[in-house]
Amino acid sequence: MESEKIIPKLIDTPEGLTLVAGDLSLRGDFAAMKDRLKPNNLNGEMLVRAAKTKSPLNGSAPVAVDATAGLGEDSFLLAAAGFEVYLFERNETIAALLQDALTRAQADPALAPVSSRLHFTPGDSVAGLKALPVRPDVVYLDPMFPTRQKSGLIKKKFQILQLLERPCDDEESLLQAALEARPTKIVIKRPAKAPVLGNKKPSYTISGNSIRYDIITP
Ligand SMILES: C[S@@+](CC[C@H](N)C(=O)[O-])C[C@H]1O[C@@H](n2cnc3c(N)ncnc32)[C@H](O)[C@@H]1O
Repeated sequence: MESEKIIPKLIDTPEGLTLVAGDLSLRGDFAAMKDRLKPNNLNGEMLVRAAKTKSPLNGSAPVAVDATAGLGEDSFLLAAAGFEVYLFERNETIAALLQDALTRAQADPALAPVSSRLHFTPGDSVAGLKALPVRPDVVYLDPMFPTRQKSGLIKKKFQILQLLERPCDDEESLLQAALEARPTKIVIKRPAKAPVLGNKKPSYTISGNSIRYDIITP
């Protein structure tokens, strides 16, 4: 007998907007990141090291674009590290979860200063990158990569996201739009053994155990 397809549903709960699918549930939650935001921990984050810029193009705060925002955790790390972050998410369900998490963060005095540096636009970042109000220092890309792991081996968060997201089908146009935005750096998160994005050789790479950051300095 064919197993029944689980359809994820968005539900309003006292803790915030929650995506529920069978016994899996998912909510954007920046409060859970408070430990990672402590200065010592933040400076150890590979993404923060990969995105660091010496002299911001616009004088004061450096500007990053997160073109594949998801639930915004990586954007939040960049904002905590001092970036003004323009973030885009095209999946309507994920965008609703992200917007709800941002609204809750704005109401939390410990998170509000960081979340005030996040400028979220639901929709496609290929168009968004062409209409930025400033030239960004960094464009960050973390497109969904097709996983070969069995569902029991992946974190619950990713299991539920896989019910919603399609593996990235516009790698080339994302990379092209990132290049056309003329940042100092394009930072690309990849699984450690994945091929490079869009066949473009990185200028250098920062590697961890399971993931790596490919950095292109155009
Ligand atoms: C792997 S997730 C990103 C996770 C994210 N870095 C985080 O910290 O939560 C990739 C996300 O990029 C979104 N995405 C892919 N292509 C996009 C595009 N062209 N414009 C906007 N969002 C896009 C997908 O819908 C998905 O939610």
